[in-house]
Amino acid sequence: MNLAMTSCLRLRSYAKINWTLEVMDRRPDGYHELRTIYQSVSLYDTIRLSASPGKIEVSCDDARVPGDESNLAYRAANSLREVVGSRAGALIEIQKRIPVGGGLGGGSSNAAVTLLGLSALWKLEISNEALSEMAAKLGSDVPFFLVGGTALGTGRGEIVSPIEQADCPFILLVNPGFSVSTADAYGKLSRLTRRASTSIMPFALMAANGVRGLPHQARNDLEQAVLPAHPEIAEVKRRLLGMGARTTLMSGSGATVFGVFDNCETLSKALEDVRAIGYRADQVRTISRLEYWDSIFE
Ligand code: C5P
Repeated sequence: MNLAMTSCLRLRSYAKINWTLEVMDRRPDGYHELRTIYQSVSLYDTIRLSASPGKIEVSCDDARVPGDESNLAYRAANSLREVVGSRAGALIEIQKRIPVGGGLGGGSSNAAVTLLGLSALWKLEISNEALSEMAAKLGSDVPFFLVGGTALGTGRGEIVSPIEQADCPFILLVNPGFSVSTADAYGKLSRLTRRASTSIMPFALMAANGVRGLPHQARNDLEQAVLPAHPEIAEVKRRLLGMGARTTLMSGSGATVFGVFDNCETLSKALEDVRAIGYRADQVRTISRLEYWDSIFE
């Protein structure tokens, strides 16, 4: 696509899961120091950006997503304008498929993709470092969406390093239909992981080997804070394991649970099972960094 000639862009804004999420110390700024392995997956929102004179407007086909200045994509556009001193405007239209407030990073992904798309649409010359800095101010996991694929997240999640790409074709996302506040999830944590724990490293090394060791490595420290108040999440995990999942884990601060399956048949049965009890279920696969960057600009 010749970006220099366009006044309108369509972008894919992919969801993420966390293969692992270890929460360590609470920091003086109120955030927690963490170690996580992010993974892009094939569920995505579509974002249409069109140049418009002067102001930024945002609309979304899902009523739960705010259409005002609190929208993360709006805030991304505004911070880009401020940093480069531009008066350019844009219409941002979001077609939602990623469950809202589901631990899949939908809002953060929308913000990062808006930064990338508007940089192209407004023909800005802006460094990757400046974009990452803006992304980190918008939210802890926004910088991951400027990297994509499989990546290690440290600091409060905003320091992102690419690692070996995991390749996992059979993942089921199950959303029990409610959202969990990320701040509440962190606030309820009572046990923090010791900084010296090295459980994440073996995962990083074997991620490329078909995630066979996942059951032993996958863990999300936020489960202990979220599950007591939301027994549905534990119930979904139990059901998926009973239906043959190799492992199941809550993604981010929930409420979405993912299950990793060995083949399409067992996954399909589990998908039917959870849909029959009224939960939303999506079959997805991992997206490598290469595919991520090849498909963001549609
Ligand atoms: O950065 P983000 O806006 O996504 O974070 C939402 C909230 O989650 C923060 O205000 C904080 O309470 C909590 N959080 C945390 N430690 C992190 C990331 C988020 O305590 N590493």
